[in-house]
Amino acid sequence: MKPVKVGICGLGTVGSGSFNILRNNAEEITRRVGRSIVIEQVGARRDNDACDTSGINVTRDIFDVVNNPEIDIVLELIGGTTIAKELVLTAIENGKHVVTANKALIAEHGNEIFAKAQEKGVIVAFEAAVAGGIPIIKQIREGLSANRIEWLAGIINGTGNFILTEMSQKGRGFEDVLAEAQELGYAEADPTFDIEGIDAAHKLTILASIAFGIPLQFEKTYTEGISRITAEDVAFADDLGYAIKHLGIARRSKAGIELRVHPTLISHKQLLANVNGVMNAIMVQGDVVGPTLTYGAGAGALPTGSSVIADVIDVARTLTADPTNRVPHLAFQSDSLSSMQILPVEEIECGFFLNMTIKDRAGVLANITQILSTNDISIESLIQREREGSELVPLVVMTHDVKERNMNAAIAAIEALPDVAGTVQRIRVENLA
Ligand code: HSE
Repeated sequence: MKPVKVGICGLGTVGSGSFNILRNNAEEITRRVGRSIVIEQVGARRDNDACDTSGINVTRDIFDVVNNPEIDIVLELIGGTTIAKELVLTAIENGKHVVTANKALIAEHGNEIFAKAQEKGVIVAFEAAVAGGIPIIKQIREGLSANRIEWLAGIINGTGNFILTEMSQKGRGFEDVLAEAQELGYAEADPTFDIEGIDAAHKLTILASIAFGIPLQFEKTYTEGISRITAEDVAFADDLGYAIKHLGIARRSKAGIELRVHPTLISHKQLLANVNGVMNAIMVQGDVVGPTLTYGAGAGALPTGSSVIADVIDVARTLTADPTNRVPHLAFQSDSLSSMQILPVEEIECGFFLNMTIKDRAGVLANITQILSTNDISIESLIQREREGSELVPLVVMTHDVKERNMNAAIAAIEALPDVAGTVQRIRVENLA
């Protein structure tokens, strides 16, 4: 059988990993596909010492690759959303299948890209866009396709998890750990995407669409980062039996869909609380399968390359399949996507961990508990610690589940009390049930 010809655009971390996997595992891949997959052309602004491109047609213009009539599958591994979008749409226009690791591109422009791909009868595969080497797209879209997915919650940013883990286990500083994550190739080109939750929000947007059969709605995802988490928050949470993890949570209820990324307290007893370092893990609750948990490397050249090449193999296997009988891009048939509304964060209900600094004098605690009670908020536990030589002391309150709207009102009233210094730190709590 004729070999399948791929063109690789981008030879950075993921591009080089994918290049080397195709080269080094060529024999095993041919045994799986029944035909060989060859690299026809590479488009990259510069060479990468990790890749031996001798004997391969290398161009500095990535558009040469998408316009090369020999190429069947284009690997878009350049990142970003402007040139990458033009590149992918041109590839589709030219009748080529596309494999991409670009979560921002899919989360922000996927609806348009998939519509175009469907019109042209080509596949756009994006396993590597979410959780690096973990085949979570395939798991939800195909492995769990008998289920009505109820919710999912995951650690889907390796850099953020690496930072929180190092801060909590080794007491290292935020900037120091971030610099190491960048050196190791985990962090995004703009690391604020990792720290402020944008990267995780891109990934959650994609997961929610394939879990619930809704269009991609990145702009409606509530997003909060980890940059305001302090060592004191981590220590108090630990004392109360919780770990602080940066979670992406998507849940459907009768009222609509929750789509949110934020630091979250989860009990140390949960497996997710013990996912450390750059590792990612995603819990998916299906109505018939119950809870599932998938764990693996969420970033890095070879783990992410593993997902890229798995997509290439999938596409190679279905090259001759009738386009109408392929697995739909967003798991559900495009004319069956649901218009269920994404809930505003004020409508979401969960427990809260509040960390504040108060004056240690009579009546302060009574005022705070009165405000909580007025807003229909029930306290689960409360810790007040002494701080030697200071009249200002930390107070931590854990609450039972309450609507975010009530909590906003209570926090505003607490912050207005003369005996409360500064702002109240709020971290949501999840019981993952
Ligand atoms: N910056 C991302 C992370 C890379 O840290 O998880 C994988 O998407």
